[in-house]
Amino acid sequence: MSTKTYARSDLECVEWLRGRGRSALRRMVERVSRPGVLSLAGGLPAPELFPARKYGEAIQKVLASDPRALQYGASYEPLRIKLAGLLAERGVACEPGDILLTHGAQQAIGIAAGLLLAPGATVVFEEAVYTGALEAVAPYSPRILTVGTDPETGFDVDALEARLASGERPAFVYLIPEAHNPVGATLSEEKRERLADLAERYGVALIEDDAYGLLVYDGAAGRPLKSLVPDRVLFVGSFSKVIAPALRLGYLVVPPALRQAAQLLKESIDLECSALTQRALAALLDDGFLPGHLARLRETYRARRDAMLEAVEAEFPAGTRFSRPRGGFFVWAVLPGDVDTSALLDRALEEEGVAFVPGSAFSADGRGSRRALRLSFASQPPEAIREGVRRLGRMLRVPAR
Ligand SMILES: Cc1ncc(COP(=O)(O)O)c(C=O)c1O
Repeated sequence: MSTKTYARSDLECVEWLRGRGRSALRRMVERVSRPGVLSLAGGLPAPELFPARKYGEAIQKVLASDPRALQYGASYEPLRIKLAGLLAERGVACEPGDILLTHGAQQAIGIAAGLLLAPGATVVFEEAVYTGALEAVAPYSPRILTVGTDPETGFDVDALEARLASGERPAFVYLIPEAHNPVGATLSEEKRERLADLAERYGVALIEDDAYGLLVYDGAAGRPLKSLVPDRVLFVGSFSKVIAPALRLGYLVVPPALRQAAQLLKESIDLECSALTQRALAALLDDGFLPGHLARLRETYRARRDAMLEAVEAEFPAGTRFSRPRGGFFVWAVLPGDVDTSALLDRALEEEGVAFVPGSAFSADGRGSRRALRLSFASQPPEAIREGVRRLGRMLRVPAR
């Protein structure tokens, strides 16, 4: 019988990690998180908006009244009932039993991948991708196909159609129709309908990541793909951006046929999410707290988004194409000419003390988006955003020495 040996302590000892480094994005964000640097790099929510006091009160209340809060236990039904109500407002009709509570959207994507991927499967990502999704599928080593992403219109539906028409049958397509990370684009109604039609016509599953679906600043969020072709879509969401990431609470809404498998897969990983966290969140939502809280978040982030867009418009070189996000945390700018934003990052740090994330950190194959950069407006106040973009604009006007 052969056994694995773990004599070497590096990543080489685990088959699917071989040749993979730590996430380029995480390394990048660590590198630029230095004292004195004005960071437009990280994608963290604004800490001053965390409802720390309210959440503390909810925990106290639960601990004082419910002995099961510190026990092992099944997924907390009252939270799933509340969430089904919240999802109905978002346009997703589902039963509480279709909802799997997960440790964040990240785990939801990993479980969705585990449900859909057989050995040798193919998946479709956008060229500029949320890198956590790449990491979530890595243990299954799928073949990855990419399609383009436009800063204004998002996912290239024509490219997907061409792939499918040429005979590709991916196990799933991963996409973020609302307030994309990193690109900031929101899909038009027409693109959503075409994607739904393609999923139906070719029998392809979609993993719809709605991490920012409750953070839309202009009008209402678009119709989720989940509402158009419910049986084809595994819908991913999270409380990380609207309450706090440390809750590690997200969800996966699955078609009824996958309910049991999803539950079993979750149990095989970590049994269940924290009983205390689930109950505390349910108590917080019971309080009628969410609508006012969401309004506060949207108002704050909208002002930051507006400050960033005005500054990019005024300060970046003519010919820059950039997204005008309706929601989420990010603006994606594609610079004119033959530039490599990875090299520009060194200059931005040294000459201007400003950080951003180069587009290549989000590239599915490590080679794309060289002329792009991602700017986050989430965790800096408007004055700092204006100042950071002003300094970047100044650097972009002066050729490298
Ligand atoms: C698009 C997207 N999906 C998923 C996640 C993971 O979020 P969570 O904290 O819920 O795991 C993030 C986090 O930044 C994200 O931007």
